[in-house]
Amino acid sequence: MNIVIIGAGRVGTALSMALNNSGHNILKVISRSGKNTERLAGILGCEYGNKPVIPPASEVVIAAVNDDALYSLMKEINIPDNTVIAHTAGSVGLEVFERHITDFGVFYPLQTFTMGRDYDFHSIPLFIEANNKKSHSVLKSLALTVSEKVFDLSSEKRRYLHLAAVFVCNFVNHMYYAGKEITGMAGMEFNVLLPLLEETLEKVYELGPERSQTGPAIRNDKKTIEKHLDLLSFSPDLQKMYRVITGAIINKYTG
Ligand SMILES: NC(=O)c1ccc[n+]([C@@H]2O[C@H](COP(=O)([O-])OP(=O)(O)OC[C@H]3O[C@@H](n4cnc5c(N)ncnc54)[C@H](OP(=O)(O)O)[C@@H]3O)[C@@H](O)[C@H]2O)c1
Repeated sequence: MNIVIIGAGRVGTALSMALNNSGHNILKVISRSGKNTERLAGILGCEYGNKPVIPPASEVVIAAVNDDALYSLMKEINIPDNTVIAHTAGSVGLEVFERHITDFGVFYPLQTFTMGRDYDFHSIPLFIEANNKKSHSVLKSLALTVSEKVFDLSSEKRRYLHLAAVFVCNFVNHMYYAGKEITGMAGMEFNVLLPLLEETLEKVYELGPERSQTGPAIRNDKKTIEKHLDLLSFSPDLQKMYRVITGAIINKYTG
């Protein structure tokens, strides 16, 4: 298919590479400031620009821009007839598409993307939603060329999935960061925690999270909890997080 990618950030870059590798023709990459577009267009052998001007031959436009920027983008963009436009946001619905746009939908990859990393899209779940049969068929067939895990999902359900992703990815990563800082206070490298991280993840796969919980909160070891809170006196934020999460674990298992 002939595809235009708007947004040359984390998702725009990963998705355009995956689509290109699957044999699609990326016609153009567009971003607001033009940052990354020249380099990405060089790799893909396509046009680039910093205005949302869509070539008439485009069959699909994927808008991988910041969630908030989607609203202004959809006001100013003109989509050629017979072109389907989709966004990639977990928590934005179909309402973002303005009335002048006729064929639209969502192409949401459930993964964490960081610049400079390679992604094998075959195993990345892709969630599709569309406003009509034609858009649905175009987006679904496109999705099936890059991923083996393609699902239909409404905006409402996708929002829950995105929220779950924030917990299991974004929040957990922030915990790793805290763990790294605290491990440093013992004069040790973060790597010393890796076998613990690996076993935690393996248990989640094998037993599920509800049967994997350990630690002072589930045992309700109050003295240990107090000692930890003392050690965290260097950071009111970490102390607050420790209290809230400890309280939530106690309530879940003993409440
Ligand atoms: N990152 C993830 O792990 C992830 C996963 C799944 C879904 N998503 C979704 O994917 C979308 C993009 O996220 P991201 O992390 O890739 O963002 P990002 O790295 O910040 O990249 C955003 C891109 O959008 C461009 N942009 C912003 N406003 C624009 C406009 N009005 N016109 C044209 N280009 C514009 C930016 O260009 P400039 O740099 O030139 O301003 C930048 O290239 C979001 O909706 C996000 O919710 C992200």
